[in-house]
Amino acid sequence: MASLSATVGKLRLANPTILAAGILGMTAEQMLEALKGGAAAVVTKSIGLKAAEGHPNPTMVETECGYLNCMGLPNPGIDDFKPEVEGVAKHDGIVIGSVYAKDAKGFAALARKMESYGASAVELNLSCPHAAGLGAEMGSSLTRVRNITRAVKKAVDIPVFPKLTPNVQKIAGLALAAEKGRADGIVAINTLKAMAILPEARTPILSNAYGGYSGPGIKPVGVRCVYEIAGEVDIPIIGVGGICSGRDAIEYIMAGASAVQIGSAVAAHGPGVFAKVCAEMGEFMTANGYKRLSDMVGAARGGR
Ligand SMILES: Cc1cc2nc3c(=O)[nH]c(=O)nc-3n(C[C@H](O)[C@H](O)[C@H](O)COP(=O)(O)O)c2cc1C
Repeated sequence: MASLSATVGKLRLANPTILAAGILGMTAEQMLEALKGGAAAVVTKSIGLKAAEGHPNPTMVETECGYLNCMGLPNPGIDDFKPEVEGVAKHDGIVIGSVYAKDAKGFAALARKMESYGASAVELNLSCPHAAGLGAEMGSSLTRVRNITRAVKKAVDIPVFPKLTPNVQKIAGLALAAEKGRADGIVAINTLKAMAILPEARTPILSNAYGGYSGPGIKPVGVRCVYEIAGEVDIPIIGVGGICSGRDAIEYIMAGASAVQIGSAVAAHGPGVFAKVCAEMGEFMTANGYKRLSDMVGAARGGR
């Protein structure tokens, strides 16, 4: 039988599927549900230094090929989030703590707390496209990506994974900046900056006018981004964007990802999607003579 076990640097995973940030990641109970559904690890909702309400409704709209959201990073703040991370870690669940801040010092302080709560790794949200002064606004700068990553690396011993925005001309340049900051891996991609308009009302649907596009429609963009990043850096990549099936996940793996995250498909189909994706990956591997997941990593790159 084909082995689905995956490694992302120091992180050892029973299979390559991880719950993406922002979906079911607000409470320990939700994260345990994702693990029960077959995810090998979970990423928390992005957490800041202080509680934040996010944007007012409407913050989510379904489109033909996915969702637009402008949640605006609602969260309880890092101190109140402690029981949620601990609640997963005490059941031996692998938790990746997602954090956001307005500067390197804030990111480092948050990462230190996530580590002390039992997180196995930290993901840096340098990529949310709808939070003023945060996320993609700082994550589009090579210098800031490098310096924030470096500051967090100095603050913690657990692996550090900057999560990058596709809303730039050259995402591979950002990945290189993160690698220079000593990142242990790259997560790509966050949502695409997008909007929808209600013609009858002559107004944007989302309260924030624009938001982030996720789901099946963004998969080709995500796969392209991973392919470009893999051509530029020597650290592992976690691919995310529009994954619903085993074939989708394998596209990312063959582009150069060592593992994948799933978000919108969990919202659409429930946590059982992790087991489904893994079963379909296993079937593909058996049918195509792949014994280990690592045999497929970068397989579509043809030495590039
Ligand atoms: C409702 C919603 C909330 C999200 N919240 C976060 C978040 O807090 N932090 C983050 O880094 N990404 C967040 N994301 C982005 C996802 O983690 C993921 O990068 C993106 O949705 C693409 O993957 P998908 O197509 O599988 O959903 C959010 C996405 C959605 C749909």
